[in-house]
Amino acid sequence: MARIIGGVASTHVPAIGKAIAEKKQNDPYWKPFFQGFDYVHQWLAREKPDVAVVFYNDHGLNFFLDKLPTFAIGAASEYRNEDEGWGIPVSRSLKGYPELSWHLINQLVADEFDITVCQEMLVDHAVTIPMALMWPGETRPVRIVPVSINTVQHPLPSVARCFKLGQSIGRAIDSFAENLRVMIVGTGGLSHQLDGKRAGFINKEFDMLCLDKIANDPLALTRYSIHDIVAEAGAQGVELLNWVAMRGALTGKVSEAHRNYHIPISNTAAATVVLNNQAIERRKVA
Ligand code: DHB
Ligand code: FE
Repeated sequence: MARIIGGVASTHVPAIGKAIAEKKQNDPYWKPFFQGFDYVHQWLAREKPDVAVVFYNDHGLNFFLDKLPTFAIGAASEYRNEDEGWGIPVSRSLKGYPELSWHLINQLVADEFDITVCQEMLVDHAVTIPMALMWPGETRPVRIVPVSINTVQHPLPSVARCFKLGQSIGRAIDSFAENLRVMIVGTGGLSHQLDGKRAGFINKEFDMLCLDKIANDPLALTRYSIHDIVAEAGAQGVELLNWVAMRGALTGKVSEAHRNYHIPISNTAAATVVLNNQAIERRKVA
């Protein structure tokens, strides 16, 4: 059976792609951020995931404001990236896992999630940047299932709904018959606002609360409305929804293995978290 080994949450700021291309990892501006991934590399080397289910938000590469699904899931064997205009190198394609995708899709629809199924799907910086951070070399040793959540055009799905989406996916992974080690990824956040009167807004206090709750009390986050999240975390801070879905997918005993918080990277609070998911032993009934 497939087993969920844990989750990683990471920022996806495009400027990171430029810093990687220019080998600036040890520059004073970047070092405290990139250092936060040393532990992630050790964790990945030890845990050796086969697949990553990635919750992220598309920023206009695959979907645009004319047609923007609330929840979309990839069912492709390959996911291409394209030039989004950030001035960062186009990433190489990522391998998909259609069999796992369709298993998740069937379970999601059975659980009454009306998702958009994408047999072709471009993935933007919100997928490629975290992948480059987790695997700094050329290889990406996991296949992916991308799950896109609308954090861009209101009305957005509620925090509670995203948590339930993650829970449904977590249950589906648990029932996938192949012997796989699955990691869950949530990208974006934490507090940031890119435009308008509050451009540059960061809320460290709220970020700390989110970091504390994501591991130990995620239901506390589901009590915030989307408007509360925008007020507390900024217009783009709602990317927290991807983190909440990631946490929802962890079906076992969850503990925080690592966290790094650094401000600012670009205009954002950049946070990295690793959560372990210890499978709960199901008691055998004699
Ligand atoms: C930035 C942050 C984002 O979440 C994003 O998707 C693009 C840019 C930024 O801070 O520059
Ligand atoms: Fe973003």
